[in-house]
Formats: sequence, C-alpha cells, structure tokens
Amino acid sequence: MSTATTTVTGIHHVGVQTADVANALAWYRAFLGAEPAWSLDTFSELTHSRLPGITQLVEIGVGTLRLHLFHRPGRPPIPPTESLVQFQHVCLAVSTPGDLDVLRERWERLYDSGEFTFALTERSTPIVVDDEGVHSFYAYDVNGLELEFTCVPGGS
Ligand SMILES: [Fe+2]
Repeated sequence: MSTATTTVTGIHHVGVQTADVANALAWYRAFLGAEPAWSLDTFSELTHSRLPGITQLVEIGVGTLRLHLFHRPGRPPIPPTESLVQFQHVCLAVSTPGDLDVLRERWERLYDSGEFTFALTERSTPIVVDDEGVHSFYAYDVNGLELEFTCVPGGS
C-alpha cells in the first residue's frame, strides 16, 4: 500500500455566509479585531452559480486567519436541533487560557451591548477544561455560525 502525499499546507480562508454583511463586519471587527483587506461586488458566472444572490464579498483578517464574508439574502439559521450538511464549527486557537477569558467576556459584553443583531439567542458556553488540559469555549457569531476558541497546552 502506498502512502498518499499531499501538498496541502493549511487553511487559507473560511467562507461565512451572511444576510447582513455590515453587521457581520462590525461584529468581527469589535470581537476579534479583524480588519477588512479587500472587497468585491462583481462575480464570475461560477460564483453566481455556487452562491446565487451574492452581492458582496469582504475579506477580513486577524493574525493568520482570513474570513470571506459573503453577503447573500437568505433564511435565518435554525437552532442546532438536527444535523445539517455543513461545517459544524470552526475552532480558533489562542495562546493562553487568559485569552479565552478575555474573548468570552468580550463576546458577552458585545451581545449585551445591543449594537449587533444576533441570529441566535444562545449565549457563550462556559470555559471547559478536558483531561488533557485543553481549555475551550463555544459561541455563535452574529450569523449563527458556531465558533470554538481553544488553548492547547504546548500549542499543538
Ligand atoms: Fe472542536
């Protein structure tokens, strides 16, 4: 049996669908300090066929993370009562457990601020620590997509 080789080096970006790109952009700026890099408002036939109704794409970035915010009209998210064929969550790494405290408190403060429209009403989870010492919590973005934040001892 031969071993497959791969040239994949990592994640380049994550695509996020939103029906309110201004709300999503403002929230990702306030929550993660992500800044817009570039945007697009004309699209190829292929993009229109993959993402009907798309009107805008904004790339935002923080650290090595790039998110592509796709503005499309659509339905609100449904609560996680059934399995859907989609990425279930995206996990973002931080350096220290203290970073998780900061992010979680910021998430709660922004939620309570009333400045953003959240598609779901669930709050962030408590920070949990597993048997390996991995700290993490989960929270939805304004669009209802689940994010995980984790701090792994040793970083791997
Ligand atoms: Fe996870």
